[in-house]
Amino acid sequence: MSYPYQVRSKEEYEEAYKRSIEDPEGFWANVAQHFVWKKPWTKVLEWNFKEPSVKWFDGATLNITENCIDRHLATLGEKPAIIWEPNHPEERVRTVTYNRLHKRVCQFAQVLKNNGVKKGDRVCIYMGMVPELAYAVLGCARIGAIHSVIFGGFSAQSIADRLEDAGAEYIVTADGAYRGEKIIPLKSVIDDALIGNKTVKRVIVYTRTRTPVSMIKGRDVWWEDEMERVEEQAPSGSPGGGEVQAHGQPSEESATDLNTSQSRPGAAAKSPHRGDLEGLAVEMSAEDPLFILYTSGSTGKPKGVVHSCGGYMVWTAYTFVNVFQYQPGDVHFCTADIGWITGHSYIIYGPLAAGATSVMFEGVPTYPDAGRLWDIVDKHKVNILYTAPTAIRSLMGFGLAPLEGKDLSSLKILGTVGEPINEEAWHWYDEHIGKKKCPIVDTWWQTENGGVLISNMAGITPSKPSFATLPMPGVQPILVDEAGVEILGNPAAGNLCIKAPWPSIIRTTYGDHERCRQAYFSTYENLYFTGDGALRDEDGNYRITGRVDDVLNVSGHRIGTAEVENAINMHSAVVESAVVGYPHDIKGQGIYAFVICPELHGGEEATRLNIIQTVARIIGPIAKPDKIQFVSGLPKTRSGKIMRRILRKIAEGETSAFGDTSTLLDPSVVEEIAKGRTLP
Ligand code: WTA
Repeated sequence: MSYPYQVRSKEEYEEAYKRSIEDPEGFWANVAQHFVWKKPWTKVLEWNFKEPSVKWFDGATLNITENCIDRHLATLGEKPAIIWEPNHPEERVRTVTYNRLHKRVCQFAQVLKNNGVKKGDRVCIYMGMVPELAYAVLGCARIGAIHSVIFGGFSAQSIADRLEDAGAEYIVTADGAYRGEKIIPLKSVIDDALIGNKTVKRVIVYTRTRTPVSMIKGRDVWWEDEMERVEEQAPSGSPGGGEVQAHGQPSEESATDLNTSQSRPGAAAKSPHRGDLEGLAVEMSAEDPLFILYTSGSTGKPKGVVHSCGGYMVWTAYTFVNVFQYQPGDVHFCTADIGWITGHSYIIYGPLAAGATSVMFEGVPTYPDAGRLWDIVDKHKVNILYTAPTAIRSLMGFGLAPLEGKDLSSLKILGTVGEPINEEAWHWYDEHIGKKKCPIVDTWWQTENGGVLISNMAGITPSKPSFATLPMPGVQPILVDEAGVEILGNPAAGNLCIKAPWPSIIRTTYGDHERCRQAYFSTYENLYFTGDGALRDEDGNYRITGRVDDVLNVSGHRIGTAEVENAINMHSAVVESAVVGYPHDIKGQGIYAFVICPELHGGEEATRLNIIQTVARIIGPIAKPDKIQFVSGLPKTRSGKIMRRILRKIAEGETSAFGDTSTLLDPSVVEEIAKGRTLP
């Protein structure tokens, strides 16, 4: 298999870029024709950013799972689609071939149907990084249910809010999830989230950790029992009958040996599981929603970003094949969690749409030691490694010892995502992991974008340390000043906007279209506003400098300051708070909270811990403040607005140069806060 839409030289990139701008409809129709559609489109693109309304491939129908699985079966059936690396290295690897993936996804799609799930229903998925998570995601897509995956680091309260916002009636979860030395009791968190919930009818529970769970009659069912029931329903004689796993027993995939992750000779004789189940691939309109993924913004409540089936499929496959220059047979390892957009697009949908082999890792880079990622690269002969700058910085801190004896020679391409990568980390990655022979792609994009928008293409267009470099074909970035006036010429600096839609642009925020307009399309007329600031060098390369709104990026996780403030303010002793980011060596940004708390019950330290605990309860451990400073007042303007600019300076360590403070109601408060700064 090869990719007719793969760009193979700098000239081809320039040519593709030019065509994509001059004739976007022709360009994308040309790419999209290489996918399986049930009905062709009547119009490639219709859009306006006013409402906003964006329609790609309108009139066309498809099922994304047929593109990600079925169409590969004839040629790649016995090739690994997913190689699963467990949290505990001594546990067996599971290799899921395309045939197996097909069988499992169809089977789980039937489970969903048996439990009453219909097209358009919202299914919340709260699982660890196990292959069953991929089956659940794809099983939803198979029958047209809208999945909403929630990262395992969110609390019961966060889940409850999301369940309510999405009106979710179904949940897929597990008893627990392994994460390094810890076990996260997923089902128990779900039980807490469901207290008072009136919409959820069914919870399907996969057995992973054997953590005790309370199964509620009439609501909760076991994954294994449901799968078995479908197996029994399947037409007799269909292959795979009787293979079903008992609770917590390793399933048949795990029978594959550690070192037989490539296809097994002779196994091709086994035909894939066909029969009635195949009929489950529901015909979806290109613009039907595929999933919701919640993300933080500058207001208090996370937004449910909605992506649609057709455009998202085309974009994730196109960018996967081009950014990473994927070649058939390559092993791709994206270390993200499927709870975030990177996992959706570059562990599941993009790689599978391209018939690739995708490594899925259950654990963390530092367990059992800081050599874990390098062990995985060595063991599975990984060719493409895609990770986050925060992971690189944290591993750098362990020195070179964890690299000793690890064969990284299979690596061809390295990638980063999630935050700006500092030059030091870039060079360490280049020198010690890529051995100076692997191009590094610094991929800039957002949950709302569906896939990479600005990045070099590995080995095709040049990289430049700490620059995401050039836009993908179809992407028209511009820099604007505060008034929205385009900044022309190079070099330049400004707020990063995009002029026209690419196929996987956000379609709406679930249940509240106006919010989508407000957040992304109202700041500057006729532009999509990213919320990021950027520089452009003489050659037109973009360097993303970070958020210009009240959104923090902590270890590559997006967290709204307003959200954290709301959580802190829930603590009974807190009167008011203001949260800002500050530079953090490993996390990129740390969370610094200024808190007004007149009575420190049990002392300062105890109150601090209580506030941290409150945030963990309300949002989740990922939003815990790194520093809490108790203050008697906050720097406010006469109209009551907190001047975060000043607080940011204090958090960064500035002691005197605060700029103009004359508009403050009480300028003396600044000095007091600066004096009391909590030193790192
Ligand atoms: C930041 C993650 C610099 C940026 C895919 C963006 C980056 C936010 C990069 C989106 C990069 C992402 N260089 N900054 N290569 N990639 N960002 O929605 O601030 O979790 O707005 O999507 O991460 O985060 P999100």
